[in-house]
Amino acid sequence: MAKVRIRNEIRFILNGEDVALTTVAPDATLLDWLRLNRALRGTKEGCAEGDCGACTVLVGRFSAGRLIYESVNACIRFLGSLDGTHVVTVEHLRCDGDRLHPVQQAMVDFHGSQCGFCTPGFVMSLYALWMRSPEPSDAAIEKALQGNLCRCTGYEAIVRAARAISSYGKAAKDPLAAERKAIMIRLAAMRDGSRVEIGAGKQRLVVPADADDLASVLDKEPGATIIAGSTDVGLWVTKHMRDIAPAIFIGNLEGLCTISEENGVISIGAGVTYSDAFALLSKRIPALGPLFDRIGGDQVRNMGTIGGNIANGSPIGDTPPPLIALGAQLTLRRGKKRRTIPLEDFFIAYGKQDRLSGEFVEAVHVPVPAKGTKFAVYKITKRRDEDITAALGAFCLTLAKDGSVADIRIAYGGMAATPKRAFAVEKALLGKPWTEATVEAAMAEYARDFTPLTDMRASAEYRALAARNLLLRFFAETTGTKAPIQVSRYEAA
Ligand SMILES: Cc1cc2nc3c(=O)[nH]c(=O)nc-3n(C[C@H](O)[C@H](O)[C@H](O)COP(=O)(O)OP(=O)(O)OC[C@H]3O[C@@H](n4cnc5c(N)ncnc54)[C@H](O)[C@@H]3O)c2cc1C
Ligand code: FES
Ligand code: FES
Repeated sequence: MAKVRIRNEIRFILNGEDVALTTVAPDATLLDWLRLNRALRGTKEGCAEGDCGACTVLVGRFSAGRLIYESVNACIRFLGSLDGTHVVTVEHLRCDGDRLHPVQQAMVDFHGSQCGFCTPGFVMSLYALWMRSPEPSDAAIEKALQGNLCRCTGYEAIVRAARAISSYGKAAKDPLAAERKAIMIRLAAMRDGSRVEIGAGKQRLVVPADADDLASVLDKEPGATIIAGSTDVGLWVTKHMRDIAPAIFIGNLEGLCTISEENGVISIGAGVTYSDAFALLSKRIPALGPLFDRIGGDQVRNMGTIGGNIANGSPIGDTPPPLIALGAQLTLRRGKKRRTIPLEDFFIAYGKQDRLSGEFVEAVHVPVPAKGTKFAVYKITKRRDEDITAALGAFCLTLAKDGSVADIRIAYGGMAATPKRAFAVEKALLGKPWTEATVEAAMAEYARDFTPLTDMRASAEYRALAARNLLLRFFAETTGTKAPIQVSRYEAA
């Protein structure tokens, strides 16, 4: 490998200004830096854990050669992850002369401006929505606001404002659109292909030049904390005060942000965000689309990765069960060595994954189900939006010509110490006719597969019953014997 150039500063654009930082702590958040170092206090701190959206800013980044602006949570976004991006805060909203920006004017006229904590975040989320979708549907507005919480007044005025923004100005004429080319040129000049290294010991952070460079950095520093979207790691810092140094930032790395399809298998690099991954996944595997809308809010989906969701080994991560049901494979890499394993084998026990020292998750490979295969995933939470799974079931079924079960893979989250297949249930179904009697008999096997826990999200009894009923629901939906059950305002409206 050619010798990698080292740069000792993080470079990005903040609103209109080029920034170069030579002193950056690995755990320094964008929110603290904006408020404390730059006195940009329009961006607020509410929860400091990615939930409330008070800290929403936009980050512009290159995606497939284009510059796209996305809403993100500044409270759990680390400064080290911003190299080569354009950070836009609420202070940067502009219009000609003394006029307010269209998003601001709509918020004023429709009484959407509420308290000083939540309003800037709402404005930024609506700004991101308006830029990508100037005439959004109500469903799109609701989705864009999933990650912005107001605990005291309401959303109707904000939704009315969102519908009206385009009547105050054209998104194509917005300064960020008009200046896009110039910004791209400035960002391209900053992204010089170097590895960024700042500080030493407890202050050390690295942004590798690309995926190959990551492999060599991690080989030498196997104990470093890998940070992709930081939607988990951010909370280690803001809520648990954990030390994350040395930190290696891998979001946006060339060679890790690719998503492609070959021979019916979709390969997703570990740096691909949920938003980018699901843009393709929901087209090719439509049953995954609704799941995307139920993971965090837009800010989390614009940062978090499927790679991080797998690597963290959480028993309640939303993507492992459906990917296991689909028969996904995982590629791990250390140095130049790669190995590819069935995804389900990665999860060994609670907090224990099959990841060797110095290895990283490079990509996950997801087979697109063959025509005629029946696939579904169901997430059970207390709230519809922005809530963590109590139980999640995923089912992938192939029927033989005679109507019997030729193949079935069932996987659950929230039912065991890891994401786990329901082998006993599968065995009870395999080769049998796909009938209610078979399904009822197989439901008794759940007790062999799972001994769920009681916690704040659900009781053990609730989980056990819900898991069994999901199989029944899958049966009902695949046979049309019972009406599909959809709890979704979008579809009911
Ligand atoms: C408000 C909020 C809502 C959320 N809602 C959901 C939800 O609905 N469903 C859900 O499943 N999750 C949810 N999460 C959790 C989180 O978004 C996911 O787990 C996410 O997928 C983590 O990805 P990341 O890229 O942000 O990982 P990071 O936080 O960067 O990293 C997570 C872990 O994975 C490791 N890691 C990351 N990438 C690699 C790699 N390539 N190789 C090896 N190790 C790696 C890190 O070292 C760390 O241990 C939510 C989080 C927040 C803050
Ligand atoms: S402060 Fe609540 S999401 Fe950041
Ligand atoms: S949190 Fe701001 S008005 Fe409710």
